[in-house]
Amino acid sequence: MISPTISLSPEQITFYRENGYLSIPNLMPLEEVEWMREIYDRLFREQAGREVGDQFDLAGTDEEGKEAVLPQILGPAKYAPELRQSQLWVNAEHVVKQLLGPEASFGDGHMIYKPARIGAETPWHQDEAYWDPGLEYESLSIWVPLQEATVDNGCMWFVPGTHTDEVHPHRSVGGDVRIHALEMLEPPAMSDAVACPLPPGGATFHSSRTFHYTGANRSDVDRRAYILSGGLPARERTDGRRFPWNEIKQTARAEREAKANQ
Ligand code: NI
Repeated sequence: MISPTISLSPEQITFYRENGYLSIPNLMPLEEVEWMREIYDRLFREQAGREVGDQFDLAGTDEEGKEAVLPQILGPAKYAPELRQSQLWVNAEHVVKQLLGPEASFGDGHMIYKPARIGAETPWHQDEAYWDPGLEYESLSIWVPLQEATVDNGCMWFVPGTHTDEVHPHRSVGGDVRIHALEMLEPPAMSDAVACPLPPGGATFHSSRTFHYTGANRSDVDRRAYILSGGLPARERTDGRRFPWNEIKQTARAEREAKANQ
């Protein structure tokens, strides 16, 4: 049984509640970053989960044989269960319970890879825009870079205070319904946003409605990010909320998933 090696201060918890995000320099030990980077690279190299729709190009049309501009893996711990044994998991779960309360659950999420000089931007969005519109969430994402994250290689940007907004209208990137990634119809001004560069082993936390963005990778280093998730049990909404942008999506990823589930 591993114990957590970090704890948030009361000031950090207050900052998260007021701003809808938090950046910390030390969520996981440096030696573990290196270990995890090897697992990460193997999962992308072996295209883990591609046949069942768990690996795909987030920002492109994802055709077979076409180079992905923003490769993503959903549920990586399914393909590398040893991730669950890491100090990162123990520390992240501890912090999630500090931010959301002891009844919060914590778990796997996804990995987004921005290859050096190729990696596309992830446009402004709210994570909740991808989810079930019939549910009310109190959830957050934990974004963990497995090397230094800089403005040049695609670190996180947030607009403080947007976590209390409703979900704004989104669409598939460029209006192309073959693309999985969503973008806000009216993105915020970059002058309202805060960049969060991080050392390896650092992390950002953001709520399901906080506006966020990462730039293209213009650097010569690959940018690897592992995104974990935490939340309280979702509640039923009764207001008939709909996310029409998800109803019209037609991705190759969803086709592979449907085929695998036949
Ligand atoms: Ni996101």
